[in-house]
Amino acid sequence: MSFPVHRLRRLRRSEAVRSMVRETNLSVDDLILPLFVTFGKRVRRPIGSMPGHYQLSVDNLVREVKKVQGLGIPAVILFGIPEKKDDIGSGAYDPGGIIQRAVKAVKDKCPEMVVITDVCMCEYTSHGHCGILTGGEVDNDSTLELLSKEALSHVEAGADMVAPSDMMDGRVAAIRDVLDRNNFHNIPIMSYAAKYASAFYGPFREAAESVPRFGDRRAYQMDPANKREAMREVALDIEEGADIVMVKPALPYLDVIRSVKDEFAHPLAAYNVSGEFAMIKAAGAMGWMDEERAMMESLLSIKRAGADMIITYFAGEAAKML
Ligand code: PBG
Repeated sequence: MSFPVHRLRRLRRSEAVRSMVRETNLSVDDLILPLFVTFGKRVRRPIGSMPGHYQLSVDNLVREVKKVQGLGIPAVILFGIPEKKDDIGSGAYDPGGIIQRAVKAVKDKCPEMVVITDVCMCEYTSHGHCGILTGGEVDNDSTLELLSKEALSHVEAGADMVAPSDMMDGRVAAIRDVLDRNNFHNIPIMSYAAKYASAFYGPFREAAESVPRFGDRRAYQMDPANKREAMREVALDIEEGADIVMVKPALPYLDVIRSVKDEFAHPLAAYNVSGEFAMIKAAGAMGWMDEERAMMESLLSIKRAGADMIITYFAGEAAKML
């Protein structure tokens, strides 16, 4: 039996009824805010392509995290911009490095905040690649050692969780091993399991000053055309000990998010990346789209696709509306 017995509009007539039959709900608990931390004092340098976001020195970062906590956002993920870069990204695993100092300061002042650190070499290497170069290529196995050192130094500084984003093979196992050997068996790993070589990282690379000096990241990040390969990446990271797996970017890969959700029981994160943020901001600024509605609709779609948590530059603005 169909029309006129069935009329789907009956349940759309008021906001109260719509809210009763709503299948997906976004909550502030789902949100993780990325923050950029840089050297110096009293620095709050606007990021041109990401309105409302800044490179913050540690003092201002702590202030920002307090505000974020006030909004009810449970977690932040930190990205560091070091004072000096070199071939082997020494700043990444320096115990006195930018992230290590930032984590200590934040955990000291806001112990309740879940502090996640991005583990990668690209912000710390002079060539801007996510690992060590040998003969012009990013060398997988020698990079693992540095990533492990980096993860350990973040955790020693007080990080609650580490998130490797480099896309080297075997990094989750290497990091799990070093953490366990140092008695950090209770620190979870959130792995950027299916991370695609995406144009949507453009604004981030300005923000984190991590544009590769030559070539691109296609020899380690995934081909946007592949979904079965994403399932293999996720399966391997889970086997290696990932506690949370991630799909990144989010909006152009909602199908991948859904498939990972259907296939695996692991908690799933999605990264609503800088380009996804910048597009909505730009269209909003031009008056071409209602920015707030576009933001909420995007976040909801990521949740509906199957993400349990969303890393998003909209976290602050969305939290105010939830
Ligand atoms: C580091 C890293 C990147 C992002 C998160 N971690 C950039 C990249 O791979 O170049 C992108 C985040 C964003 O665009 O918001 N490797």
